[in-house]
Amino acid sequence: MEKLKVAVVGFGFMGMTHTMNILKNPGLELVAIVDKNPDNIGKNLDEQVGNLSTGTFNKNEISNVHIYSTLEDCFAREQLDACIIAVHTNFHFKLTKLALESGINVFLEKPFCLDITEGEELIELARSKNLLLMIGHVVRFMPPYQKLKKWIDSGEFGRLKFLSLTRFSGIPAWGEWKEKQLDFGSSGGALFDMLIHDIDFVQWAIGIPDSIESTCLPGKLSRHDYLNAIWKYNSGINVKIEGGNTFHTTFPFQAGYSANFENVSVLYSSGNPENIIIATDNDVNQVPVGDAMKGYSGEMDYFIHCLVNHEKTDKCLPESALQSIKLAYKHI
Ligand SMILES: NC(=O)c1ccc[n+]([C@@H]2O[C@H](COP(=O)([O-])OP(=O)(O)OC[C@H]3O[C@@H](n4cnc5c(N)ncnc54)[C@H](O)[C@@H]3O)[C@@H](O)[C@H]2O)c1
Repeated sequence: MEKLKVAVVGFGFMGMTHTMNILKNPGLELVAIVDKNPDNIGKNLDEQVGNLSTGTFNKNEISNVHIYSTLEDCFAREQLDACIIAVHTNFHFKLTKLALESGINVFLEKPFCLDITEGEELIELARSKNLLLMIGHVVRFMPPYQKLKKWIDSGEFGRLKFLSLTRFSGIPAWGEWKEKQLDFGSSGGALFDMLIHDIDFVQWAIGIPDSIESTCLPGKLSRHDYLNAIWKYNSGINVKIEGGNTFHTTFPFQAGYSANFENVSVLYSSGNPENIIIATDNDVNQVPVGDAMKGYSGEMDYFIHCLVNHEKTDKCLPESALQSIKLAYKHI
Protein backbone atom coordinates (compact mmCIF):
# COMPACT_ATOMS: atom_id res chain seq x y z
CA MET A 1 0.00 0.00 0.00
CA GLU A 2 1.24 3.46 -0.81
CA LYS A 3 2.37 5.46 2.21
CA LEU A 4 0.39 8.52 3.27
CA LYS A 5 2.36 11.74 2.84
CA VAL A 6 2.36 13.97 5.89
CA ALA A 7 3.94 17.24 7.06
CA VAL A 8 4.63 18.39 10.61
CA VAL A 9 3.92 22.08 11.20
CA GLY A 10 5.74 23.60 14.19
CA PHE A 11 8.86 21.72 15.19
CA GLY A 12 8.91 22.35 18.94
CA PHE A 13 8.17 19.97 21.83
CA MET A 14 5.02 18.51 20.31
CA GLY A 15 6.17 18.72 16.68
CA MET A 16 9.20 16.61 17.58
CA THR A 17 7.05 14.15 19.55
CA HIS A 18 4.75 13.65 16.55
CA THR A 19 7.73 13.41 14.18
CA MET A 20 9.13 10.53 16.25
CA ASN A 21 5.83 8.64 16.04
CA ILE A 22 5.41 9.35 12.31
CA LEU A 23 8.91 8.00 11.64
CA LYS A 24 7.98 4.77 13.47
CA ASN A 25 4.70 4.33 11.56
CA PRO A 26 5.27 2.13 8.45
CA GLY A 27 2.16 3.58 6.79
CA LEU A 28 3.47 7.15 6.83
CA GLU A 29 6.05 9.15 4.93
CA LEU A 30 7.20 12.39 6.53
CA VAL A 31 7.75 14.59 3.46
CA ALA A 32 7.98 18.04 5.05
CA ILE A 33 8.58 19.98 8.24
CA VAL A 34 7.37 23.57 8.47
CA ASP A 35 8.67 25.92 11.12
CA LYS A 36 8.90 29.70 11.11
CA ASN A 37 12.45 29.29 12.47
CA PRO A 38 13.74 26.59 10.08
CA ASP A 39 17.36 27.04 11.20
CA ASN A 40 16.46 25.56 14.59
CA ILE A 41 15.22 22.28 13.13
CA GLY A 42 17.36 19.38 14.27
CA LYS A 43 19.47 21.49 16.63
CA ASN A 44 17.90 20.38 19.89
CA LEU A 45 17.12 16.73 19.21
CA ASP A 46 19.46 15.58 21.96
CA GLU A 47 17.95 17.81 24.65
CA GLN A 48 14.73 17.22 26.47
CA VAL A 49 12.39 19.95 25.23
CA GLY A 50 9.10 20.21 27.11
CA ASN A 51 7.98 19.08 30.54
CA LEU A 52 7.93 15.33 29.74
CA SER A 53 10.20 12.79 28.14
CA THR A 54 8.16 11.67 25.12
CA GLY A 55 11.02 9.92 23.25
CA THR A 56 13.77 10.82 20.78
CA PHE A 57 14.92 10.18 17.22
CA ASN A 58 18.11 10.64 15.25
CA LYS A 59 18.89 13.68 13.07
CA ASN A 60 19.70 11.38 10.12
CA GLU A 61 16.12 10.15 10.13
CA ILE A 62 14.93 13.57 8.95
CA SER A 63 17.84 14.38 6.63
CA ASN A 64 15.71 13.82 3.47
CA VAL A 65 12.66 15.67 4.74
CA HIS A 66 11.94 18.98 2.96
CA ILE A 67 12.06 22.01 5.25
CA TYR A 68 9.85 25.10 4.83
CA SER A 69 9.41 28.29 6.80
CA THR A 70 5.78 28.85 5.77
CA LEU A 71 2.82 26.59 5.28
CA GLU A 72 2.01 28.37 2.00
CA ASP A 73 5.40 27.39 0.52
CA CYS A 74 4.97 23.81 1.70
CA PHE A 75 1.50 23.47 0.18
CA ALA A 76 2.71 25.01 -3.12
CA ARG A 77 5.35 22.30 -3.55
CA GLU A 78 4.14 19.16 -1.76
CA GLN A 79 1.28 16.75 -2.39
CA LEU A 80 0.08 15.97 1.14
CA ASP A 81 -2.55 13.67 2.60
CA ALA A 82 -2.44 15.26 6.03
CA CYS A 83 -0.62 17.74 8.18
CA ILE A 84 0.07 17.64 11.90
CA ILE A 85 -0.22 21.14 13.33
CA ALA A 86 1.73 21.68 16.56
CA VAL A 87 2.21 25.43 16.81
CA HIS A 88 1.12 27.58 19.72
CA THR A 89 -2.58 27.78 20.33
CA ASN A 90 -2.97 31.36 19.08
CA PHE A 91 -1.98 30.14 15.57
CA HIS A 92 -4.21 27.04 15.57
CA PHE A 93 -7.09 28.73 13.75
CA LYS A 94 -5.10 30.45 11.01
CA LEU A 95 -2.96 27.45 10.04
CA THR A 96 -5.75 24.87 10.34
CA LYS A 97 -8.03 27.04 8.17
CA LEU A 98 -5.31 27.34 5.53
CA ALA A 99 -4.74 23.57 5.53
CA LEU A 100 -8.44 22.69 5.27
CA GLU A 101 -8.99 25.28 2.53
CA SER A 102 -6.10 23.64 0.67
CA GLY A 103 -7.89 20.28 0.86
CA ILE A 104 -5.60 18.72 3.49
CA ASN A 105 -6.70 16.59 6.47
CA VAL A 106 -5.55 17.98 9.81
CA PHE A 107 -4.42 16.57 13.13
CA LEU A 108 -4.31 19.64 15.40
CA GLU A 109 -2.71 19.79 18.84
CA LYS A 110 -4.94 20.55 21.80
CA PRO A 111 -6.42 22.91 22.92
CA PHE A 112 -8.64 23.39 19.84
CA CYS A 113 -9.27 27.19 19.48
CA LEU A 114 -9.71 29.56 22.40
CA ASP A 115 -12.31 31.47 20.34
CA ILE A 116 -15.43 29.27 20.14
CA THR A 117 -16.65 30.81 16.87
CA GLU A 118 -13.29 30.04 15.25
CA GLY A 119 -13.59 26.42 16.36
CA GLU A 120 -17.10 26.24 14.92
CA GLU A 121 -15.85 27.70 11.64
CA LEU A 122 -13.13 25.03 11.36
CA ILE A 123 -15.59 22.22 12.13
CA GLU A 124 -17.92 23.48 9.40
CA LEU A 125 -15.03 23.92 6.95
CA ALA A 126 -13.81 20.35 7.52
CA ARG A 127 -17.38 19.05 7.15
CA SER A 128 -18.04 20.97 3.93
CA LYS A 129 -14.77 19.75 2.39
CA ASN A 130 -15.23 16.19 3.66
CA LEU A 131 -11.85 16.32 5.45
CA LEU A 132 -10.74 14.89 8.78
CA LEU A 133 -10.07 17.30 11.60
CA MET A 134 -8.96 15.66 14.83
CA ILE A 135 -7.77 17.49 17.95
CA GLY A 136 -4.95 15.72 19.77
CA HIS A 137 -6.55 15.06 23.15
CA VAL A 138 -3.82 12.59 24.01
CA VAL A 139 -5.15 11.65 27.46
CA ARG A 140 -8.05 9.84 25.75
CA PHE A 141 -5.38 7.54 24.25
CA MET A 142 -3.22 7.04 27.36
CA PRO A 143 -3.55 3.46 28.67
CA PRO A 144 -4.14 4.38 32.37
CA TYR A 145 -6.95 6.77 31.43
CA GLN A 146 -8.43 4.36 28.88
CA LYS A 147 -8.52 1.77 31.65
CA LEU A 148 -10.34 4.19 33.95
CA LYS A 149 -12.93 4.92 31.24
CA LYS A 150 -13.42 1.19 30.72
CA TRP A 151 -14.04 0.67 34.45
CA ILE A 152 -16.51 3.57 34.53
CA ASP A 153 -18.39 2.27 31.46
CA SER A 154 -18.43 -1.41 32.45
CA GLY A 155 -19.42 -0.91 36.09
CA GLU A 156 -17.20 -3.85 37.02
CA PHE A 157 -16.05 -2.05 40.21
CA GLY A 158 -19.56 -0.78 40.94
CA ARG A 159 -20.75 2.77 40.44
CA LEU A 160 -18.19 5.62 40.35
CA LYS A 161 -18.78 7.92 43.32
CA PHE A 162 -15.79 10.28 43.38
CA LEU A 163 -12.92 11.04 41.00
CA SER A 164 -9.98 13.35 41.71
CA LEU A 165 -7.60 14.34 38.88
CA THR A 166 -4.38 16.30 39.34
CA ARG A 167 -1.86 17.78 36.91
CA PHE A 168 1.09 19.93 38.05
CA SER A 169 4.13 21.25 36.24
CA GLY A 170 6.80 23.93 36.50
CA ILE A 171 6.50 27.19 34.57
CA PRO A 172 7.21 26.21 30.92
CA ALA A 173 10.50 27.66 29.69
CA TRP A 174 11.12 25.90 26.35
CA GLY A 175 10.38 27.04 22.80
CA GLU A 176 7.95 29.91 22.45
CA TRP A 177 6.81 29.50 26.05
CA LYS A 178 9.80 31.65 27.00
CA GLU A 179 8.29 34.63 25.19
CA LYS A 180 6.21 37.25 26.96
CA GLN A 181 2.65 36.10 27.52
CA LEU A 182 -0.52 38.21 27.50
CA ASP A 183 -2.96 38.55 30.39
CA PHE A 184 -4.97 35.64 29.05
CA GLY A 185 -1.79 33.84 27.98
CA SER A 186 -1.12 33.11 24.31
CA SER A 187 -2.20 29.53 25.09
CA GLY A 188 -4.88 30.43 27.63
CA GLY A 189 -2.64 29.70 30.64
CA ALA A 190 -2.64 26.42 32.54
CA LEU A 191 -6.45 26.25 32.59
CA PHE A 192 -6.76 26.04 28.79
CA ASP A 193 -3.41 24.42 28.14
CA MET A 194 -2.85 21.83 30.90
CA LEU A 195 -6.05 21.34 32.87
CA ILE A 196 -7.91 21.08 29.55
CA HIS A 197 -6.55 17.50 29.49
CA ASP A 198 -8.54 16.62 32.62
CA ILE A 199 -11.56 18.74 31.68
CA ASP A 200 -11.65 16.96 28.33
CA PHE A 201 -11.19 13.50 29.83
CA VAL A 202 -13.99 13.93 32.37
CA GLN A 203 -16.51 15.39 29.92
CA TRP A 204 -15.66 12.57 27.47
CA ALA A 205 -15.80 9.78 30.09
CA ILE A 206 -18.63 10.99 32.33
CA GLY A 207 -20.37 13.86 30.55
CA ILE A 208 -21.18 17.52 31.16
CA PRO A 209 -21.51 18.30 34.89
CA ASP A 210 -24.67 19.80 36.36
CA SER A 211 -22.68 22.37 38.36
CA ILE A 212 -19.10 23.64 38.58
CA GLU A 213 -17.45 25.43 41.53
CA SER A 214 -13.97 26.72 40.82
CA THR A 215 -11.09 28.80 42.08
CA CYS A 216 -8.37 30.04 39.73
CA LEU A 217 -5.12 31.72 40.74
CA PRO A 218 -2.79 33.78 38.52
CA GLY A 219 0.72 32.77 37.56
CA LYS A 220 3.40 33.97 35.15
CA LEU A 221 1.46 33.00 32.01
CA SER A 222 -2.11 34.07 32.71
CA ARG A 223 -4.75 34.91 35.30
CA HIS A 224 -5.62 31.19 35.54
CA ASP A 225 -2.42 29.19 35.95
CA TYR A 226 -3.84 27.24 38.92
CA LEU A 227 -7.27 25.60 39.07
CA ASN A 228 -9.15 23.91 41.86
CA ALA A 229 -12.61 22.81 40.72
CA ILE A 230 -15.43 20.55 41.85
CA TRP A 231 -17.85 19.23 39.24
CA LYS A 232 -21.12 17.82 40.54
CA TYR A 233 -23.50 15.52 38.70
CA ASN A 234 -27.14 14.97 39.63
CA SER A 235 -26.37 11.24 39.37
CA GLY A 236 -24.33 11.65 42.58
CA ILE A 237 -20.82 11.59 41.06
CA ASN A 238 -18.44 14.32 42.27
CA VAL A 239 -15.23 15.15 40.41
CA LYS A 240 -12.31 17.26 41.61
CA ILE A 241 -9.84 18.74 39.13
CA GLU A 242 -6.72 20.42 40.49
CA GLY A 243 -3.45 21.56 39.00
CA GLY A 244 -1.42 24.22 37.33
CA ASN A 245 2.02 25.39 36.34
CA THR A 246 2.89 27.96 38.97
CA PHE A 247 5.86 25.97 40.33
CA HIS A 248 9.52 26.70 39.53
CA THR A 249 10.57 25.62 36.06
CA THR A 250 12.41 22.42 37.04
CA PHE A 251 9.53 21.14 39.22
CA PRO A 252 8.86 17.59 37.93
CA PHE A 253 5.70 17.08 35.90
CA GLN A 254 3.13 14.97 37.72
CA ALA A 255 -0.36 13.87 36.79
CA GLY A 256 -2.73 11.22 37.98
CA TYR A 257 -6.09 10.29 39.40
CA SER A 258 -7.78 8.69 42.41
CA ALA A 259 -11.15 7.08 41.78
CA ASN A 260 -13.58 5.87 44.41
CA PHE A 261 -15.88 3.17 43.01
CA GLU A 262 -18.49 1.36 45.12
CA ASN A 263 -16.29 -1.74 45.49
CA VAL A 264 -12.68 -0.51 45.13
CA SER A 265 -10.54 2.61 45.18
CA VAL A 266 -8.06 3.15 42.36
CA LEU A 267 -4.86 5.21 42.24
CA TYR A 268 -2.79 6.17 39.19
CA SER A 269 0.21 8.49 39.35
CA SER A 270 2.76 9.44 36.69
CA GLY A 271 5.35 8.69 39.41
CA ASN A 272 4.43 4.97 39.05
CA PRO A 273 3.72 5.16 35.30
CA GLU A 274 3.04 1.57 34.29
CA ASN A 275 0.82 0.45 37.18
CA ILE A 276 -2.51 1.25 38.76
CA ILE A 277 -3.11 0.51 42.45
CA ILE A 278 -6.45 -1.08 43.31
CA ALA A 279 -7.40 -1.05 46.99
CA THR A 280 -10.26 -2.61 48.96
CA ASP A 281 -10.79 -2.58 52.72
CA ASN A 282 -8.76 -5.81 52.96
CA ASP A 283 -6.04 -5.80 50.30
CA VAL A 284 -4.13 -3.74 47.75
CA ASN A 285 -3.01 -4.86 44.26
CA GLN A 286 -0.98 -3.35 41.42
CA VAL A 287 -2.31 -3.84 37.88
CA PRO A 288 0.10 -3.24 34.96
CA VAL A 289 -1.51 -0.93 32.41
CA GLY A 290 1.19 0.31 30.03
CA ASP A 291 2.94 3.63 29.82
CA ALA A 292 0.84 6.78 29.45
CA MET A 293 3.39 8.06 26.88
CA LYS A 294 1.98 5.47 24.43
CA GLY A 295 -0.93 7.87 24.10
CA TYR A 296 1.09 9.96 21.62
CA SER A 297 1.59 7.07 19.19
CA GLY A 298 -1.95 5.85 19.90
CA GLU A 299 -3.60 9.12 18.91
CA MET A 300 -1.53 9.32 15.70
CA ASP A 301 -2.28 5.68 14.79
CA TYR A 302 -5.99 6.35 15.35
CA PHE A 303 -5.99 9.48 13.16
CA ILE A 304 -4.25 7.56 10.36
CA HIS A 305 -6.60 4.58 10.80
CA CYS A 306 -9.60 6.91 10.35
CA LEU A 307 -7.99 8.56 7.33
CA VAL A 308 -7.20 5.27 5.58
CA ASN A 309 -10.59 3.73 6.34
CA HIS A 310 -12.64 6.87 5.63
CA GLU A 311 -14.05 6.83 9.18
CA LYS A 312 -15.00 9.73 11.41
CA THR A 313 -12.69 10.26 14.42
CA ASP A 314 -15.45 9.14 16.81
CA LYS A 315 -13.05 8.69 19.74
CA CYS A 316 -12.00 12.32 19.43
CA LEU A 317 -14.37 14.50 17.44
CA PRO A 318 -13.65 18.24 17.05
CA GLU A 319 -17.17 19.00 18.36
CA SER A 320 -16.22 17.23 21.59
CA ALA A 321 -12.88 19.08 21.82
CA LEU A 322 -14.78 22.36 21.40
CA GLN A 323 -17.12 21.30 24.20
CA SER A 324 -14.03 21.08 26.44
CA ILE A 325 -13.11 24.68 25.58
CA LYS A 326 -16.64 25.80 26.43
CA LEU A 327 -16.38 24.00 29.78
CA ALA A 328 -12.96 25.55 30.49
CA TYR A 329 -14.56 29.02 30.17
CA LYS A 330 -17.04 28.05 32.91
CA HIS A 331 -14.14 28.05 35.41
CA ILE A 332 -13.31 31.78 35.07
N1 LIG B 1 -0.50 17.04 23.98
C1 LIG B 1 0.40 17.44 24.86
O1 LIG B 1 0.76 16.72 25.79
C2 LIG B 1 1.02 18.81 24.69
C3 LIG B 1 2.16 19.15 25.41
C4 LIG B 1 2.73 20.40 25.18
C5 LIG B 1 2.16 21.28 24.27
N2 LIG B 1 1.02 20.93 23.61
C6 LIG B 1 0.39 21.84 22.64
O2 LIG B 1 1.19 21.85 21.45
C7 LIG B 1 1.23 23.17 20.87
C8 LIG B 1 2.69 23.58 20.72
O3 LIG B 1 3.33 23.56 22.00
P1 LIG B 1 4.90 23.23 22.11
O4 LIG B 1 5.18 23.06 23.55
O5 LIG B 1 5.27 22.16 21.15
O6 LIG B 1 5.51 24.64 21.63
P2 LIG B 1 7.01 24.98 21.18
O7 LIG B 1 7.24 26.42 21.49
O8 LIG B 1 7.95 23.98 21.74
O9 LIG B 1 6.95 24.77 19.60
C9 LIG B 1 6.19 25.58 18.74
C10 LIG B 1 6.92 25.62 17.39
O10 LIG B 1 6.06 26.21 16.42
C11 LIG B 1 6.82 27.08 15.58
N3 LIG B 1 5.89 28.07 14.99
C12 LIG B 1 5.22 29.07 15.62
N4 LIG B 1 4.42 29.74 14.75
C13 LIG B 1 4.56 29.13 13.55
C14 LIG B 1 4.00 29.34 12.27
N5 LIG B 1 3.11 30.32 12.06
N6 LIG B 1 4.38 28.52 11.27
C15 LIG B 1 5.27 27.53 11.48
N7 LIG B 1 5.86 27.28 12.69
C16 LIG B 1 5.49 28.07 13.71
C17 LIG B 1 7.84 27.69 16.54
O11 LIG B 1 8.99 28.20 15.85
C18 LIG B 1 8.19 26.48 17.43
O12 LIG B 1 9.29 25.74 16.90
C19 LIG B 1 0.42 24.06 21.81
O13 LIG B 1 -0.87 24.23 21.30
C20 LIG B 1 0.37 23.29 23.12
O14 LIG B 1 -0.81 23.53 23.84
C21 LIG B 1 0.46 19.70 23.78
